[in-house]
Amino acid sequence: MHRRIITPGVLAAASLLLAIPASATSGTPGAPGIGDPYYPDYGNGGYDVSHYDLRLRYRPGTDELQGTATILARTTQDLSGFDLDFLLDVSEVRVNGSRAAFARSGEHELVVTPGTPLAKGTPVTIVVRYGGVPSAKSAYGFTTWHRTPDGAVAADEPEAAWWWFPSNDHPGDKATYDVSVAVPDGTQAISNGTLQSTTSKLGWTTYNWRQNKPQATYLATLALGRFDITTGTSDGGVPVLNAYSRDLGDDDGAARASVERTGELVDWLSGYFGPYPFASAGGYVPRTTTGYALETQTRVYYSPKQFRNGSNTSVVVHELAHQWYGDDVSLKGWKDIWINEGFARYAQWLWSEHEGEGTPRELADYVYASHPADDAFWTVAPGDPGPDHQFDAAVYDRGALAIQALREEIGDDAFFAVLKGWPKEHAYGNASVADFQEYAERVSGRPLAALFGTWLFAPSKPAVPAARAASLAGTGTRVARPRSWRRIEATNDVHRH
Ligand code: ARG
Ligand code: ZN
Repeated sequence: MHRRIITPGVLAAASLLLAIPASATSGTPGAPGIGDPYYPDYGNGGYDVSHYDLRLRYRPGTDELQGTATILARTTQDLSGFDLDFLLDVSEVRVNGSRAAFARSGEHELVVTPGTPLAKGTPVTIVVRYGGVPSAKSAYGFTTWHRTPDGAVAADEPEAAWWWFPSNDHPGDKATYDVSVAVPDGTQAISNGTLQSTTSKLGWTTYNWRQNKPQATYLATLALGRFDITTGTSDGGVPVLNAYSRDLGDDDGAARASVERTGELVDWLSGYFGPYPFASAGGYVPRTTTGYALETQTRVYYSPKQFRNGSNTSVVVHELAHQWYGDDVSLKGWKDIWINEGFARYAQWLWSEHEGEGTPRELADYVYASHPADDAFWTVAPGDPGPDHQFDAAVYDRGALAIQALREEIGDDAFFAVLKGWPKEHAYGNASVADFQEYAERVSGRPLAALFGTWLFAPSKPAVPAARAASLAGTGTRVARPRSWRRIEATNDVHRH
């Protein structure tokens, strides 16, 4: 139920309604979800965001976050109200300058009802004032706000924004960002894009970050804590900014020996994927305990765990590959996750070859041979894995195997043209697995429905061409494990929460 607050705006709107023609309808509420079958209530209907401006203040000792979000959007239907996805406590919402009523609904919906209905196709400015302790909030029984000894980190997939800013939380609605964060002197605030400036006043330092290219909400990140920041520029001219918790202990050397190679690896990946799509690159390593890393746009999140066994350039290659496959070109729906994880994994296979630790073909043979036909691995279709299997090994490994099958089907020239052409084809946009198949068919001039059906969609182990079958398991031959295998496998510790 929405409680309607009677404000002068509402009264004015009511009297105005008498004067305007009937065609100016009062509109209907925007849907509580954007329409993704994997997560029906993620994102929202009725509007499209172009920019988030977030003014935040954080106290590491108590985990208190206060903020004002100014959201620039455009309506896509006549709207009597709309939802934002958000968990913190809201004190005020304004729509186009006037106070709006708001209420909570479902697991993470903030239902906003402006005094005046909004006409389709018009710009709207939404201001939300809020505060709270993010670690004290949960939805569906989990929280993805990760506390550290010196602060906190927001980095998770597919949900992370609910704990720090109100949003239309789905990759289908990308936007630019200004994120300004005040923290006590001595604490740093890390976010996406370029650091425009820092200012200091009365014991607080404000970090002003700007992401000037469209960014999906789950790729927005915030890290608060005591960090050492390094900067540089790659040979190819890409500005790099990295940040390391001052408290990484024994993991510090290996973390830096990996992440400080970001510039070199961005340049190397550009050879396969085309020019780096963003104004800055880099990563940060806070003192978290998650198993996964995350391709947060321009500023990758790494868990110290990734570096526990020494330097790990493979995970850096994986997350940087996502900057093209996932961040520049984002998925249309969460079912399209293969375009992210299959290609980031395949980039690790290419890096393995570069390092002399096994070729993509050897890695493909190893994946194929190490899962017998009755292994549940083959029941997961990377092309549409289902929400419970989105980050399964099958999406990564069977996903990369599908890419190797495509390469062998269309030949190296067409394959590498597809690899490099795709980010350009859908630059800063969204695309689906079907779009990818269509593009690969166009570039290669071959029908690929059967190949995609077999490798991405069939719930069973594909047969390999007879010529190759002899060298693969199932014939009793053992396939050697490439040297890069264990490190590649450790990239995705797949527990969702
Ligand atoms: N996209 C991440 C990767 O680099 C995986 C994140 C999985 N999500 C999670 N909450 N564990 O592979
Ligand atoms: Zn990944």
